[in-house]
Amino acid sequence: MKYGHFDDQRREYVITNPRTPWPWINYLGNEDFFSLVSNTGGGYSFYKDAKFRRITRYRYNNVPMDSGGKYFYINDGESVWSPGWKPCKTELDSYECRHGMNYTTIKGVKNGVEAEVLYFVPLKTWAEVQKLTLRNTTGEVKKLKIFSFVEWCLWNAASDMENFQRNFSTGEVEIEDSVIYHKTEYKERRNHYAYYSVNEPISGFDTDRETFFGLYNGFDEPQTVLEGAPRNSVAHGWSPVASHYVEVELQPGETKELVYVLGYVENEEDDKWESKNIINKTKAKATIAKFDSAEKVDAALAELRAYWDKLLNVFTLDSGDEKLDRMVNIWNQYQCMITFCFSRSASFFESGIGRGMGFRDSNQDLVGFVHQIPERARERIIDIASTQFSDGGCYHQYQPLTKKGNNEIGQGFNDDPMWLIFGTISYIKESGDFSILDEPVPFDNEAGTEVSLFHHLTVSFNHIVNNLGPHGLPLSGRADWNDCLNLNCFSNDPNESFQTTENKTEGSKAESLMIAGLFVVYGRDYVELCQKTGNSIEAERAQHHIDSMVESVITDGWDGDWFIRAYDYYGRKVGSKENEESKIFIESNGWCTMAGIGLQEGLVAKALNSVKERLDSEHGIVLNNPPFTKYYIEYGEISTYPPGYKENAGVFCHNNPWIMIGETVQGRGDRAWEYFRKICPSYLEEISDLHRTEPYVYSQMIAGKDAFLPGEAKNSWLTGTASWNYYAITQYILGIRPDYNGLMINPCIPSEWTGFKITRQFRGASYEIEVKNPNGVMKGVASLKIDGKIIEGNIIPLMPEGGTYSVEAVMV
Ligand code: BGC
Repeated sequence: MKYGHFDDQRREYVITNPRTPWPWINYLGNEDFFSLVSNTGGGYSFYKDAKFRRITRYRYNNVPMDSGGKYFYINDGESVWSPGWKPCKTELDSYECRHGMNYTTIKGVKNGVEAEVLYFVPLKTWAEVQKLTLRNTTGEVKKLKIFSFVEWCLWNAASDMENFQRNFSTGEVEIEDSVIYHKTEYKERRNHYAYYSVNEPISGFDTDRETFFGLYNGFDEPQTVLEGAPRNSVAHGWSPVASHYVEVELQPGETKELVYVLGYVENEEDDKWESKNIINKTKAKATIAKFDSAEKVDAALAELRAYWDKLLNVFTLDSGDEKLDRMVNIWNQYQCMITFCFSRSASFFESGIGRGMGFRDSNQDLVGFVHQIPERARERIIDIASTQFSDGGCYHQYQPLTKKGNNEIGQGFNDDPMWLIFGTISYIKESGDFSILDEPVPFDNEAGTEVSLFHHLTVSFNHIVNNLGPHGLPLSGRADWNDCLNLNCFSNDPNESFQTTENKTEGSKAESLMIAGLFVVYGRDYVELCQKTGNSIEAERAQHHIDSMVESVITDGWDGDWFIRAYDYYGRKVGSKENEESKIFIESNGWCTMAGIGLQEGLVAKALNSVKERLDSEHGIVLNNPPFTKYYIEYGEISTYPPGYKENAGVFCHNNPWIMIGETVQGRGDRAWEYFRKICPSYLEEISDLHRTEPYVYSQMIAGKDAFLPGEAKNSWLTGTASWNYYAITQYILGIRPDYNGLMINPCIPSEWTGFKITRQFRGASYEIEVKNPNGVMKGVASLKIDGKIIEGNIIPLMPEGGTYSVEAVMV
């Protein structure tokens, strides 16, 4: 069953039934000021950091789901309703939500009145703008009472939810003209406040939550709205909110537009006050003035659209399959931008207080985004590397506001360092900017410890080399990519976290085949980089370590039909035929096949065949099989999940692309494509009632074949799935891959495809690429031409900037 449809022309997903199987959300803003907005107007805003600078309050896991947001209430004399159906839930005559590129419109029609809210964060603006358009479609005069509503958060989203003995006494607001200012804690240690304005004289307001709702009423029936009369309450402690009251009279056929601005301001210490206890509002007023008319708002939206046109024009595909094209051209790229901005911090599954920016996560995310704005990827790489330790180890996460490593979330995940090599090399291949390698970058943000970024890559590489176990394979540390395979944790106390509790590292023999494959893949990239930068001795040294790793994998990591997953603390195999449960895992087989370990000897094909046989399912490739059915203290969190969920045999969409890429190494485009299509959201739209999450973005996990409800997805939006699938489809299946000296064309496609076209902007030039597959093969480019001239090999050389070049690749 579907709940809407794609509108590719406008790059929107159109939801036509508000009762989606889960809130279907969108993200506004892409630099400093961010909002999450659901299809019924739920959600919240924050500045940079969802934990430390939460602007509006949100209650996760509430009853009913998704309560609280940026709401508008309309009292039209006959009924009280909201354009997004919620929170009033008054039946609407029609409803439509359009989620677009960083903007959302929600339109409801009731009793002949059309109310449409446009939500977006204009470029370079610390504010969310909301334009409410009211239209009278009847022949009679309509008198409407419009109430806006947001609820302020007391900045730190964590203490906002716990410290009520203080919180209920600190709230402070100011009201001036049509603007409500939230200034809690401004007089003490904060230099910032928030505001909510409307470009129309107001006939009243409320800022005290209980006065607005009535103590016993919910979001669906605020007392003031039901009565049609605001109380002009001024919050003193308790829970400050902001609600403007505007009376609108619409003649038959008349339209009226109101513009609301929800913004954030920081003031210098000596410029905080206008007069005693009256905040300096200059900056707020300047922003409000920028958007004080519908025309200005429309112009800002047009700018935002143009911005996205530019970003999405860097890579466009015409494959003849609209479901594929809309993912590659629109939604997958959009999701990559969102994960780049938010890492794993704030979604409808991530509360914004638990996790910051992941070290491994962010490096992977930037790979899906780097072609759009390489400069921002560059900045991110430096930020990430600055949190690294001098021995190459890393904090697992850092806070976006402070950019400092967050120890509460732990360290010692031994795969982390290698991802920095991946991120950096992807950036250089895209941009050609080798100068990033010379950037001075500190360790653990300590001034005075700066070394070149290149040196950070070397310590990353060495971290693996310096932490090898008894088989010459990488020690896993706290965990590798799979945060939940905790081989050194041995936790039997439910009150400790698997992620941070003291590990038993002394004498540990826990080794990871996933890190081994990762090391070979990015280690080779490191070697190539060393060669390119004239460090041949380092290249030789590194190559030697890679060769021995390959040897160790073949000797001690091969189980006969697939690669084992790991050795545990005691040196026993994990993910082997010898095991009773979880005999095979996806990660090691993904990475070792991507690395092509044993390709000639047939190991890659065998491993991939075993994956197909044991891990593949209708809804994608599960992580391990058979699932764990009991708790194994020596494996940790992975065995805490019921079979089929999350890391215990769920379809973990993040790692399915590793197998897709492995299949392309083997040259099997049919298989790679089959796997891609199975988890790609646009192909799942028809089963939205089962899948539940948004059909326009990937989810981290789909319940696996052993789950209670296979096919049901969770954890949409913030997942490495976005960048990995984008990377797999564009660089390995379609095969358009940035390289140091040009664009590599190396497709591996299903044999039934006859070809496809791609436009790719690369280093200032535009390439119009046509791939033809006249003989129905899966891999291999027989001839490559640029503007009619034959090129040897499969790399299109860099052409002069500014030009447009036509490329023709004919497959064997
Ligand atoms: C985390 C990743 C991790 C994955 C597998 C995700 O939730 O963000 O860092 O690799 O889970 O455990």
